[in-house]
Amino acid sequence: MVDTRISRRAALMGAATVGAWIASPARALLQAGETGRVPASIDALIARMTIEEKAGQLSLMASAWGGSKAVALNPPTNGPSFESQVEEARLGQLTGVFNGNSARMARIMQTAVMNGSRLKIPLIFAADIIHGHRTIFPVPLAEAASFDPELARRTAEMAAFEAAGAGIDWNFAPMVDIARDQRWGRGVEGAGEDVLLGQLFAAARVRGFQGKSLRSTEHMLATAKHFAAYGAAEAGLDYNTVDVSERTLREVYLPPFKAAFDAGALSTMAAFNELSGIPATGSEWLMTRLLRGEWGFRGFIVSDYTGDEEMIAHGFAKDARDATKLAFLAGVDMSMQSGFYRKHLPDLVRSGEVPTARVDESVRRVLAMKAMLGLFDDPFRRIDERRESARSMTPRARALAREAGRRSIVMLKNDGGLLPLPRGGKRIALIGPFASGQHNLNGPWVIYGDDEKSVDLATGVRAALRNGNALLVAQGSGVEEPLAGGIEQAVEAARQADIVVLALGESFNMSGEAQSRTEIIVPEPQQRLAEAVAAIGKPTVIVLKNGRALALAGAVANAPAILVTWFLGTETGHAIADVLFGAYGPSARLPVSFPRVSGQQPYYYAHKPTGRPNPRGEKLEEYKAHFRGITNTALYPFGHGLTYGRIEYSDLALSSPQLAANGTIEVRARVTNRGRRPAEEVMQLYIRDKAASVTRPVRELKAFRRVALQPGQSQTVRFRLRPADLAFIGRDNRPVIEPGTFDVWIAPSAEADGVQGTFTLA
Ligand code: BGC
Repeated sequence: MVDTRISRRAALMGAATVGAWIASPARALLQAGETGRVPASIDALIARMTIEEKAGQLSLMASAWGGSKAVALNPPTNGPSFESQVEEARLGQLTGVFNGNSARMARIMQTAVMNGSRLKIPLIFAADIIHGHRTIFPVPLAEAASFDPELARRTAEMAAFEAAGAGIDWNFAPMVDIARDQRWGRGVEGAGEDVLLGQLFAAARVRGFQGKSLRSTEHMLATAKHFAAYGAAEAGLDYNTVDVSERTLREVYLPPFKAAFDAGALSTMAAFNELSGIPATGSEWLMTRLLRGEWGFRGFIVSDYTGDEEMIAHGFAKDARDATKLAFLAGVDMSMQSGFYRKHLPDLVRSGEVPTARVDESVRRVLAMKAMLGLFDDPFRRIDERRESARSMTPRARALAREAGRRSIVMLKNDGGLLPLPRGGKRIALIGPFASGQHNLNGPWVIYGDDEKSVDLATGVRAALRNGNALLVAQGSGVEEPLAGGIEQAVEAARQADIVVLALGESFNMSGEAQSRTEIIVPEPQQRLAEAVAAIGKPTVIVLKNGRALALAGAVANAPAILVTWFLGTETGHAIADVLFGAYGPSARLPVSFPRVSGQQPYYYAHKPTGRPNPRGEKLEEYKAHFRGITNTALYPFGHGLTYGRIEYSDLALSSPQLAANGTIEVRARVTNRGRRPAEEVMQLYIRDKAASVTRPVRELKAFRRVALQPGQSQTVRFRLRPADLAFIGRDNRPVIEPGTFDVWIAPSAEADGVQGTFTLA
């Protein structure tokens, strides 16, 4: 029987294509299920494949379609022309391409394969949809600040809706790397420094991208990346050596991956870095023993961009052939961009160095995934030019971007209740390199978004003001270089105004891949601008643009009000104005600690106590763990964020002083809004294991809850802990639950006192 969907597409595909497809062996795979069960027909297909065709199914290349921004995001290569890439696809040398542009491109390539290739195995189209396809949502780090994984699930789902509409089957996201060193530029792509937050956001994003069914034309396959510990690069230098103990690996860096796989992610990407001496791409322990053996992962593993080739530079592989063999035998199913697999696997199989059965296994995984994505059912199912434009930037998507934007903004400081600002009656000077202009709104890793569709800060503020003419705008400075006459102009604008809003920070390309910084500060020329404007003495709000935690100093740190606004995407200006003028009360929290100075890096709240902790407070004691002249604490710790209310914590109570081995304990506290505006407070529960067979962090986040409070309202909030919540990785690198004494806090941040109690685990 002819599949009706294919018939319906005949007009678009052309009758010859349809005929060829219906007659093809791959068509036999129509019934591939959702279960991951590999249909027998896949093995029949594999049996017909040459070794070259098999290696082709394990080779993924960047799209050669002109006009894509993809080349600029990765090291440029002297790749083939689009025509020759189409020919490669037709010859079965490609499993698919990534970061191409548009359904049109996908249609040309898929048609060539369906018409002209021997076995007619559909191509898979991949892309980096990190925080939105056409509608750009806040960068992942910003969304993590919402402390609301459901928000991330919704934006991921919307991104999938747009991207799958444009022919994309497979997304290289979410990035679930924990980032504890803010010098590293790629922290912006993840959920920050904390394990629990990392797990929850990893799972939420996977659910959003993949939905309930991979066959859905509104969803796409997710990739948990970069496996593993890429975020632990020494000194935060991208691509640098990682040397962590197996315990730290299992306790900190791996749990978000596990959460992503448990949520259903069926692909993962091998990390660029070496891990304690072995490049991740060549680590049989990581890719096969741990991932497939211990965790039972059933999806497939792709290398990162030339990750197999890079094992030569690592000094691990002798040459290209050796790199191929090492990566493949370690368990990396598919090679991205080097072309090594299609070049060297056939010969490695012929010489007996790589067993045919292993190649068949990897091919089976890849074909099973294509089947699960519904590509054998209809290779064009996500390729539809009309749907591509119909789904692009709908009002619903823009509204979600605005909602996500304002819920990602963290208010660090609001002395004297300067915020929210009045909508009228005051003249506002909006100053700084990010005051206006659309270039730095979307942030890093945007391939398909359009700067010109994004709302800048000046536009957002003007729209919020009763009288848009009351706004003065002055650039004041470049991002990393001074602007001739800029400071004078800015000072003049500040003089004329009642209130100054200073938009400072990092440009979109100061974070992201290969953008590590030694000094995580507001760049010098902007700091000078801030000092000059502060000298005028007007009430000043700092609006930070940033892809990482920053070490704030001088006039920036001392301003009465500070908002962290990251990169919020399409609706940036509206989202910031919503918070500035009080249409929305800030409710986000820092997913990364803001240190006092750059030299504290890596600084994260869940650090170990050391044998010589400096007592809490500002006083420095000799021969205690601190740098010269500063306490080793955060300026603004993980979890910090103010609201427009005035929140008080009180009355911590435990259901019992003891938690039984198979029991639960309830920890409750009262939270009250003593302010005059409504607030949404994110209450956080932290524990500390006082003495254990392996030393434990000074605090660990175990739960959090968002509570909406009207002025004067008070609420008792209850959390439950079970012994499993107190588990850690023990001496034998396995999880263990040990009896002992635990401090517990319910607090507004990782370093705030909040309210505290103690219990024992029997
Ligand atoms: C990045 C990956 C990305 C890949 C493809 C690499 O440079 O590390 O995160 O998915 O390129 O664009």
